[in-house]
Amino acid sequence: MNGKPWDGRFGEATDRRVEAFTSSIRVDSRLYRYDIQGSVAHCRMLAHCGILSEKEAEALVDGLEKVRAEIERGELAYDDRLEDIHMHIEDRLRGLVGRVAAKLHTARSRNDQVALDVRLYLRDAVGDILKLVARVRTCFVDLAEKNIDVILPGYTHLQRAQPVLLAHHLLAYYEMFTRDAQRLREGLARIDVMPLGAAALAGTTYPIDREYTARLLGFSRVSRNSMDSVADRDFIVEFLAAASLCMVHLSRLSEELVLWSSREFGFIELPDAFATGSSIMPQKKNPDIPELIRGKAGAVFGHLTALLCTLKGLPLAYNRDMQEDKQPLFDAVDTLSACLGIVAAMLPALRFQQQRMRQAASEGYLNATDLADYLVEKGMPFREAHGCVGRAVAYALEKGCELDQLNLEELRAFSDLIEEDIYEALSLEQVVNRRNSTGGTSRENVVAAIQRAREELRTDNSETSGRKP
Ligand code: ARG
Repeated sequence: MNGKPWDGRFGEATDRRVEAFTSSIRVDSRLYRYDIQGSVAHCRMLAHCGILSEKEAEALVDGLEKVRAEIERGELAYDDRLEDIHMHIEDRLRGLVGRVAAKLHTARSRNDQVALDVRLYLRDAVGDILKLVARVRTCFVDLAEKNIDVILPGYTHLQRAQPVLLAHHLLAYYEMFTRDAQRLREGLARIDVMPLGAAALAGTTYPIDREYTARLLGFSRVSRNSMDSVADRDFIVEFLAAASLCMVHLSRLSEELVLWSSREFGFIELPDAFATGSSIMPQKKNPDIPELIRGKAGAVFGHLTALLCTLKGLPLAYNRDMQEDKQPLFDAVDTLSACLGIVAAMLPALRFQQQRMRQAASEGYLNATDLADYLVEKGMPFREAHGCVGRAVAYALEKGCELDQLNLEELRAFSDLIEEDIYEALSLEQVVNRRNSTGGTSRENVVAAIQRAREELRTDNSETSGRKP
């Protein structure tokens, strides 16, 4: 009387406001491809196990392919009365193949169906995101290689601290995005579990073969507990956590690009094609891309929190609350993908202002630690050397010059351990290259790090592209 699958038990039609409120079609329609892929595998398994005849299964599979084509041509109209993508597809299938369509849902519930769809979707989405992360990582290695001799100040507390190679700074981001890739890849192992066959929550009475379905769909494992199968959204939370951290890294990068492109820093020139102007101030060139990335990060963290909150109070097994997992998931995938994509496009176009960076690294006593280290090498205990150099800095400040601009006589007033070779020790190149402890900024280290990163990217790329369907 209502056209609902549950009509049998109901005495009146669903209120239109309820249909509008409970419908998720506007969000979950994007799962259509995975829903059909899952249904096709389900049909084949049912035939394989003799639950459907081969002929019935073929009719269903044919019909499902037709529905897919219709959706892709934009011919399927969405209707809140049909609630979600699962019911839209089944309804259209009935229109196309008639009564046999009613057999598709044998040994299945929407509860395990939606869990399957989201896993299929996320497996693909993570694969795509991994490719984007690899592109961003490659950008950093390329930039590091291209700018291997550029020196800039390294900062702590946003105060100039010690000179570093620009390449070293860039490779710090390479490390962050490499961890992001690892996290996303590790999460795949827990996405890669086939839930179908849990049915509503308790399993099914039909003699199904879940391993068969899993093989058809390219899953490595089937879920082990039917209740957990329909209640588990951990894999989405893990993805959102990994996505959030990746957004943190993108946002920190963005903050540096905003700072560096300011007149105050002047370390980079944003390419015109990746900046925007002002509608009132003709001189302006604004870093809107990094600002938007920084701005969008918050929403992704919000999605992680939203899903955690949705799940925390839920009794086993499926609850309708879980329908609210998709909007945050989809938005996180879209936001992260868009940010990674634009960063991969923008990074190669950045122009670094080498002179400006070098100038900044030469001013502000960034070699003070090196003067102290020099004294320690000549036998002075470090704390004493620290005090001694502190006095030298105060003197130079007073005089308005750098440490290496003091003459030997002035320097020797602070310690007679200081000799002519001090000027060499305080030069920018020396200061950088002597930091050759493992992971330090010396040129030799950084060149080796670039080589290592190249090899890592090669293996990662062959793993990612070698993945199954
Ligand atoms: N649209 C639902 C979701 O996204 C599908 C599962 C519905 N199950 C149910 N028992 N109403 O979670």
